[in-house]
Parts: sequence; structure tokens; C-alpha cells
Amino acid sequence: MKNYLEPVEDGLLMRSSGPWVAKKLDYLKRYIEIFETAMRKKWQRRNFVDLFSGPGKCRTDNGRIFLGSPLLALTTTHPFTNYFFADIDSASINALQERCKALPLYDRIRFLAEDSNEAVARVISEIQTLDRLHKSPSLNLAFLDPEGLELEWKTVAALASVQKMDLIIHYPVMGLLYRLLFASKNPLGDKFWKEVIQRDVHGQRRLF
Ligand SMILES: C[S@@+](CC[C@H](N)C(=O)[O-])C[C@H]1O[C@@H](n2cnc3c(N)ncnc32)[C@H](O)[C@@H]1O
Repeated sequence: MKNYLEPVEDGLLMRSSGPWVAKKLDYLKRYIEIFETAMRKKWQRRNFVDLFSGPGKCRTDNGRIFLGSPLLALTTTHPFTNYFFADIDSASINALQERCKALPLYDRIRFLAEDSNEAVARVISEIQTLDRLHKSPSLNLAFLDPEGLELEWKTVAALASVQKMDLIIHYPVMGLLYRLLFASKNPLGDKFWKEVIQRDVHGQRRLF
């Protein structure tokens, strides 16, 4: 059972990833560690929201295994008080749930197997219900890590409307460029991705 929370083989589903995940997850791990160390004394209740959670572990082409974003947030030195995990792939959510079962804070984790752009409304409503119950706002950190362009503007806008919400959005720059170069009609239908292109591709940041 212990293996479920360690970056080793445990017989459950893992996500196949490229070598770049090491850097992404290292940044996220350090951010979470700093966030929780700094905020836990200032905020009694802190929620971690991960709307593209995956199964909790990933394996790179060369066989290295990493804890994915949900397990990094759960195993950080000072855990959050509540967790919300969503993934459209029910096999991933099932594997994640299995890995979390032995945790003492298991009953404070919400698992949603559905499109995040739909699940977000329920996540926000549950956060707000808890806030009303405790008569004070919670502090929230949302990590949004889509594979492609699945994240919709309305989801980002809904999260940003929550009183105390920090957002970390990891997006695939090469995927965006590919769409821009090769999709013939309406390559970036959603407002979120248009904004990103405007800022990152046409803006100050140089990609090449
Ligand atoms: C890049 S992976 C996430 C990896 C994870 N953050 C980690 O650190 O291991 C993206 C995940 O988003 C899920 N996904 C794709 N489209 C989705 C959608 N519309 N709603 C929710 N999840 C989605 C995929 O099934 C996949 O598990």
C-alpha cells in the first residue's frame, strides 16, 4: 500500500510522459511547498484544485516514474485541507482514487470523472458551501494542466471569480503553434487560447 504514494511501480495505471515532465513537476512541487509553508498559518482552510489530474503517477520513455500533480499536492510537507481532482478519463480517476485510499485525509478529497469544463461549476459550488459553513473564505490553489487545448476560457473565468484563487496554468506551446500553423479553419476557437497566443506568440516572449 505504501508504494501507492511513492514514485515506484505499484501495479496501477500510470500516464506515459515525455522527459519534460521532470521539470514541470519539480517546479510545481517547489511552488506547493512554498505556498503551503507560507499560507497554512494565515489560512485555516486551503483547497487544492487539479482539474486535469491524471492517475497520480507518470512514467517517462526511459522508465523513470514520477508522482503526478495530485500526489505531489497530497504528499507535500503541510497538506492542504481539501482537494478536488477531476479528469475526463475515468480509468485515471479510478487509479488516483485507489492510490489515495490509505491517506488519513481521504475523506477530504473529491474525485470527479468528467470534463473539467463541466466539473468546475460543482467544484466551485462545493468550495463556496464549505466557506459558508465555516463562515470564512478559504484560500485556493488551482493547477490546470491540459494535454492539448481542452481548457476553456469559461473555466478559467469561473475559477478566477472565486474570492481567493491562485491559478497555475501549464499549457502546451508547441501544440498551440501546431494548431496555428496547420489548422485551416478556426484554429483557436476558444478565447483562452486566443489570449495566450496574443501574449506568448505575438507578444514580448520570443519562442524561437
Ligand atoms: C497533461 S495530463 C495531466 C497530468 C497531471 N497533471 C500530472 O501531473 O500527472 C492531462 C490530463 O487531462 C485529462 N483531460 C483531457 N481532457 C480533459 C477534459 N476536458 N477534462 C478533464 N480532463 C481532461 C487527460 O485524461 C489527462 O489525464
